[in-house]
Amino acid sequence: MALLEIKDLVVGYGRFPVLHGIDFVVEEGEVCVLLGLNGAGKTTTVSAIAGLLKATSGSITFDGKALTRGSPSTRVKSGIALCPEGRRVFPRLSVAQNLRLGAWSKRRRPKVVRHQMELVLDYFPRLEERADQMAGTLSGGEQQMLAVGRAVMSEPRLLMIDEASMGLSPTLARTVWEATARIASNGTTVLMVEQNAGALPFADRALLMEKGTLIHQAVGDEIRDVNLRDAYLGV
Ligand SMILES: Nc1ncnc2c1ncn2[C@@H]1O[C@H](COP(=O)(O)OP(=O)(O)OP(=O)(O)O)[C@@H](O)[C@H]1O
Ligand SMILES: [Mg+2]
Repeated sequence: MALLEIKDLVVGYGRFPVLHGIDFVVEEGEVCVLLGLNGAGKTTTVSAIAGLLKATSGSITFDGKALTRGSPSTRVKSGIALCPEGRRVFPRLSVAQNLRLGAWSKRRRPKVVRHQMELVLDYFPRLEERADQMAGTLSGGEQQMLAVGRAVMSEPRLLMIDEASMGLSPTLARTVWEATARIASNGTTVLMVEQNAGALPFADRALLMEKGTLIHQAVGDEIRDVNLRDAYLGV
């Protein structure tokens, strides 16, 4: 059984559908990348999984349970975390405070919070150096590390990261993707949204989205296949 199973999912804003019935799975432990250009529907997809948008029809099954209803906070408790597009760190709080807020759902389990904090500072040593700095004064790359770290603090089983590489230099984008791969190797399933095909080498599964439809899906070695890049660049 896949950790996440999406079936015939339709999501829209008002009367206008944006996702026209998409199907995909994410297996436990893998890194899945959802690729597509501006306006393809990537953020809409992860927002629906996080419970921020209501599905018009179709189903979202997580760990065998239907998620079609359920508030965003229940979904965090069930093990789903979203690192949102545009980072959205709390600018007037310190790095450490931002991270602790990420562990809100685990606040009665101090051991878990401590363990997650150790993991995050190990993934992103830069955050330890900056622990007391106000988040709003961090560089773009550091804010992205903080946003991913904050999502990791909730001890998710499924970590969704929406366009981590946006606005980052190629080197910093790699740093964030490499950390993502380490997060996954420690047992967290990752669904990352990207416009940047540079994320493909880090993925076990790739989904190509165009205008609210999945036009191509690839797993394993197929991802390394040049056809996928061609298909994407040809979008
Ligand atoms: N709040 C909203 N109200 C109405 N339409 C919206 C809203 N948010 C997104 N849309 C529309 O839904 C479509 C998909 O948007 P979405 O944000 O999911 O794309 P995306 O793939 O994440 O793009 P990007 O890479 O630019 O972030 C777009 O046509 C967009 O204009
Ligand atoms: Mg988006």
